[in-house]
Amino acid sequence: MGIKKVESIWVDGHLVPWDDATEHVLAHTMHYGVGAFEGIRAYQRTDGRTQIFRLREHIERLLDSSAICTMDVPFTRDQLMQACIDVVRANKMTSCYLRPLVYMGYGALGLGSLEPPIRTMVACYEWGSYLGDEGLKKGIRCMIPGFTRANSNAVMNKGKICGQYVTSVLAKRMAIKSGFEEALMLDPQGFVAEGSGENIFIIKHGVVRTPPTSAAILAGITRDTVITLLREQGVEVREEPIARDELYIADEVFLTGTAAEITPVRDIDHRKIGRGEAGPVTRRLQESFFSVVKGTDTKHNDWLAFV
Ligand SMILES: Cc1ncc(COP(=O)(O)O)c(C=O)c1O
Repeated sequence: MGIKKVESIWVDGHLVPWDDATEHVLAHTMHYGVGAFEGIRAYQRTDGRTQIFRLREHIERLLDSSAICTMDVPFTRDQLMQACIDVVRANKMTSCYLRPLVYMGYGALGLGSLEPPIRTMVACYEWGSYLGDEGLKKGIRCMIPGFTRANSNAVMNKGKICGQYVTSVLAKRMAIKSGFEEALMLDPQGFVAEGSGENIFIIKHGVVRTPPTSAAILAGITRDTVITLLREQGVEVREEPIARDELYIADEVFLTGTAAEITPVRDIDHRKIGRGEAGPVTRRLQESFFSVVKGTDTKHNDWLAFV
């Protein structure tokens, strides 16, 4: 899916024309991957207004990821939130995906060098359903390729850090080349961790389970949204380890992420999950999620930043 160009990108405090938002080939992050990024969605509500979903939490995670990378971001949380609003407004987008990035620019290439400037950008562009409209409705097929999430001394799992996505990219490519839509990854102990870019939930006998945030997973903001919505519906949610074969015998499995939203899983490693379609708990959850982001349910307006 190519990126559809819009007018401008916010770079280091200014809106610059799309084609001018370029970087030197010797930028530090391009070589070693020390950078922090976010993926955020803006939705058009049924009343026509546009809101950016859970903007504050995404920017706070961007600052946390930057701190893990020892990058001092030269903008405050509020300035970065405003940058996101400004870039959506300037490009007259009604719904879109936002991609903020904090990275080390051009200056020096030593591993320990503090010379490269810390640069910040926020782009926005159109992005439909990450795993396809059909996937959102009917569910996707997943595989567990031979890549695992690393333990938390090897990889800073709580950060959304550029270089850490190599394993995700390789796992996802392996899954796609093998005829699946998504890769699921295990942790160093062999328990279920997450998708290449999503958190995972399973349902068995009406109880929902997901790995705890102490596991080798990103603490997803959609994960948190979903846990909140399910508990409000009176559904029991347990955050605990999940064994690989518990996936195969679950009644329902779904993935959550800003890009993937709530995507049902209908098959894992050639085993049909439940009836091989989106299950009832997943469908009900999708409905409540979309009512919140589209503004027909106003209970969680505190999660919305209006553009
Ligand atoms: C590895 C990984 N896990 C989980 C998620 C889901 O996180 P969120 O719901 O905050 O988008 C993402 C996406 O950001 C991700 O890249």
